[in-house]
Amino acid sequence: MRHLLSPLDFKVEELDELLNLASDIEKNPEKYKHACDGKKLATLFYEPSTRTRLSFESAMLSLGGNVLGFASADSSSASKGESVSDTIRIISCYADICAMRHPKEGAPTVAAEKSSIPVINAGDGGHQHPTQTLTDLMTIRSLKGHLDNLTIGLCGDLKFGRTVHSLINALVRYDNISFVLISPKELQLPDYIRQDVLEANNIPYKEVEQLETSMPELDILYMTRVQRERFFNEDDYVRLKDRYVLTKEKMQYANENMLILHPLPRVNEISVEVDDDPRAVYFKQVQYGVYVRMALILTLLNIKV
Ligand code: CP
Repeated sequence: MRHLLSPLDFKVEELDELLNLASDIEKNPEKYKHACDGKKLATLFYEPSTRTRLSFESAMLSLGGNVLGFASADSSSASKGESVSDTIRIISCYADICAMRHPKEGAPTVAAEKSSIPVINAGDGGHQHPTQTLTDLMTIRSLKGHLDNLTIGLCGDLKFGRTVHSLINALVRYDNISFVLISPKELQLPDYIRQDVLEANNIPYKEVEQLETSMPELDILYMTRVQRERFFNEDDYVRLKDRYVLTKEKMQYANENMLILHPLPRVNEISVEVDDDPRAVYFKQVQYGVYVRMALILTLLNIKV
């Protein structure tokens, strides 16, 4: 039995297979519409979500399966004090696979230890968000045609942004990747990613505070929101939340092929007027997220079509 807890749980070759499967699902959805007949996906969301929970549910329904679950800790027996370990033992009796989002780093890993069904980490605190990374990789590969030879700008809350942490972990395994880390000093990438992932793999990177001056060299600009829910102090959040706002004017610094990605939800960091720019692909990214989660469910359930 396999889980997906970190983007590193799949080797590069396995990721390629998964992305190929997702592309085939995109082209031939009819072929897969009964692939999960009789199977059940449980979505265990202890933290709010729109995209991740609903895209998992949409993915399972598109495969002919069924879904069950809860959308907040308050509506589950976690509110009565039930542990993640006990909960997963219960869910293992009800479903064939589950996706778990939890505010505590490592909670899906704890669940996987007691689970008799595959566990997918749907975001754990400020740590990792591997299925967002699969979505990001599919978006880049589909629209750029490759995952190597890229300069990627990561902008915003690089400290608490789990999507950024997972994406860096995944991309350093491809050739000729470099990063421009654009953030205020207070929201810089944690040392455990900078040293243990970037420096340990000899990946070129620079840390800057200015967005505009970095844009001309970027192939991808990955915008993120400031993660209000992870701040200890509301004043710090208010001071930092609008530090970066990508506008139509700023887009004149970008090259004509640069893609703008964002895991969403967006708050203020991309002006809505940028949405009409053909380089803005964050809504396409959402659709890729369904295909790649369909491919992931099939892979973890070991279902071949
Ligand atoms: N990208 C993402 O994780 O969005 P949700 O929080 O809405 O699931």
